[in-house]
Amino acid sequence: MLAFIFALFVALQFLSVFAAPAPYFKARDITALSNTDISDLSPFTQLARASYCPTAKLQGWKCGKICDSLPGFEPTLIGGDGITTQIYFVGYWPDQNTIVVSHEGTDPIHLASILTDIKITMHPLNATLFPGVSSAVLVHDGFKDQHAITAQQILAEVQSLMASKNSTSVTLVGHSLGGALAVLDALYMNINLPAGTSIKAVTYGTPRIGNAAFAQLIDEKIPDLRRINNKFDIIPTVPGRFLGYAHPHGEVHLLSTGTAISCPGSDDSTDSRCQNQSVPNVLKGNILDHLGPYVGLSIGTIFCV
Ligand SMILES: *[C@@H]1O[C@H](CO)[C@@H](O)[C@H](O)[C@H]1NC(C)=O
Ligand SMILES: *[C@@H]1O[C@H](CO)[C@@H](O)[C@H](O)[C@H]1NC(C)=O
Ligand SMILES: *[C@@H]1O[C@H](CO)[C@@H](O)[C@H](O)[C@H]1NC(C)=O
Repeated sequence: MLAFIFALFVALQFLSVFAAPAPYFKARDITALSNTDISDLSPFTQLARASYCPTAKLQGWKCGKICDSLPGFEPTLIGGDGITTQIYFVGYWPDQNTIVVSHEGTDPIHLASILTDIKITMHPLNATLFPGVSSAVLVHDGFKDQHAITAQQILAEVQSLMASKNSTSVTLVGHSLGGALAVLDALYMNINLPAGTSIKAVTYGTPRIGNAAFAQLIDEKIPDLRRINNKFDIIPTVPGRFLGYAHPHGEVHLLSTGTAISCPGSDDSTDSRCQNQSVPNVLKGNILDHLGPYVGLSIGTIFCV
């Protein structure tokens, strides 16, 4: 596992060490999260963690402590193999009357996933899946292709649950590559579900996904986005801005246990505690912070116990 982490670290150095200034940013207020805001993240973190559990344990929601922390959750579609297709599940969360979609991310153990992550060219989104999105909006090929594999099946399940549960709320979660898939799914749901559907995305350790036009589209379409970064994690720093990548709004930076700030601007640079300045390049970061803990909860295959 350490060998894979090291290989990932070396590969990522080439992607971001010469980060150039981003094309724009929005200066807005940096605020500390209250203790309630911080503890309210916990069920979303558990849902993101669960996608790292074996699919056999997700069936019937029997994945140990993670599943026990969300009693009553009903998974209705579970798929992926964790190798060529990230594990994912769709289900109903009665506490919040919302339909949840969770995508597994890049665990260093899954080398194939890492290779997907470092495939670096950008292209427009598929117009069948994302009708009406400008061809100026560009997305990393690896993320776009991985999203397309499961997109239609997941949308059909979400539509069916919205009808059977009488819910108009959809929640997307994911960590790492799974965070990128959650943001793509948020946009995909926004475009393909009825107007008035409430869409929330909560992501952890999410890399940059696309160009500035993509980030602006997310800012506009997905106002309820929380993009949680842990301490000195290097993944949110890649791919580098010098390759034309940009982050949308919504950063929450976890500084230490019990302290977090909201950095609302895209790639916020107004505060030295936000990601852009605290991890300006991968040499200033720590890959181990990628796994967490996200307020006491680490995310990855080895943490599904
Ligand atoms: C776009 O997505 C549709 C539906 O999955 C698929 O049939 C089509 O081949 C895709 N187009 C491209 C160019 O990948
Ligand atoms: C569905 O929910 C709406 C409120 O969101 C409510 O007005 C309506 O009566 C509900 N329908 C059913 C069949 O429960
Ligand atoms: C990020 O920080 C660098 C300085 O480290 C600055 O040059 C750049 O403009 C910042 N990016 C954004 C988007 O604010």
